[in-house]
Amino acid sequence: MSDTLTKLTYQSFQQGKNYFGLAHKIISTQLLSLASPPVELKRRPIPPELLLKINNRLNQLIETDWQDAERGVYPHSLLFDNPWFDFFRYYPVVWLDMPQIWGRANQKKYQDFSSEVATDGYPSYYLQNFHHQTDGYLSDLSANLYDLQVEILFGGSADAMRRRILAPLKQGLQAFNSISPGQIRVLDVACGTGRTLKLIRAALPQASLFGTDLSPAYLRKANQLLSEIPGELPQLLQSNAEELPYLDNYFHAVTCVFLFHELPADVRQRVIEQAFRVTKPGGVFIICDSIQVSDSPELMPIMESFHETFHEPYYKHYITDDLVERLAKTGFEKITTEDHFMSKYLIAHKPA
Ligand SMILES: C[S@@+](CC[C@H](N)C(=O)[O-])C[C@H]1O[C@@H](n2cnc3c(N)ncnc32)[C@H](O)[C@@H]1O
Repeated sequence: MSDTLTKLTYQSFQQGKNYFGLAHKIISTQLLSLASPPVELKRRPIPPELLLKINNRLNQLIETDWQDAERGVYPHSLLFDNPWFDFFRYYPVVWLDMPQIWGRANQKKYQDFSSEVATDGYPSYYLQNFHHQTDGYLSDLSANLYDLQVEILFGGSADAMRRRILAPLKQGLQAFNSISPGQIRVLDVACGTGRTLKLIRAALPQASLFGTDLSPAYLRKANQLLSEIPGELPQLLQSNAEELPYLDNYFHAVTCVFLFHELPADVRQRVIEQAFRVTKPGGVFIICDSIQVSDSPELMPIMESFHETFHEPYYKHYITDDLVERLAKTGFEKITTEDHFMSKYLIAHKPA
């Protein structure tokens, strides 16, 4: 396929996912508000000029995604990677689960877990139905539906946003050019269902990859996804990001995607301290999370309603939290930030 044709195919693929997500949101909101009108969750319509800005940011993300593939940060095939099997298997379940989600939202039930879900031993801030999700992060059902729900939320651009960590990751690892690629160790903290690790694997075919998460169900799902890669041996551990079970200075790079907005402020600080501890001198720590007010004030209306609409109890504080200051006071240096679509990236280095 010629380059132009591949680019057009990629753009159409992304636009298709975006329209699909949009259609899903419109139909589900209409249907379910008819079936069980939400008491409090009155979604404020997004003004057309804001919608235009959001669309421009999405187009820019798609262009950057394409350009990074062109530069060889990752193979073009990664642009088309999509969990089709899960889509066909679990999309009907997303619909079947929706009445429960809206029921919880209406009744303001935020700590609602099925009786078979074991909740002992988890920090209390974690025992939440984030996004009104059935069983929070603690069941196989939740793990099976999570990626589809995130894709619908972000109009099919979740992986494109995750991929924005790959260029700074490869750039940061240049500090270790003198060692063989097979000796590089990268940790993804709060790896969830493993999508980020899968993307990192495509960009760093020889590195040793590690993942941690608090949820056994999400780790099982990650194990399933990563085991599909020929020759992969997923090195996944259940652990709290506040107490990473690794030696000091062990990893050449640490990444963390979409975790920080789901943590209380003091926990965010402890996770940064742990990332600092386990990163090697000269190594890089990369955070990808939601946009914040300081960089994207024009998207404030979206940020204002997000925590309420999606039950994100720590988001309101997160959007004004000075993460650069937190990283700097922990000891990181050369801290830079980027914004892509609905995400912010912090790239921080441990002094060599
Ligand atoms: C929004 S999801 C993001 C998952 C994944 N990184 C991604 O890109 O989709 C948040 C993840 O953080 C995990 N998590 C939340 N608090 C945690 C903690 N204190 N320690 C480890 N994992 C945590 C959850 O289990 C969940 O898998």
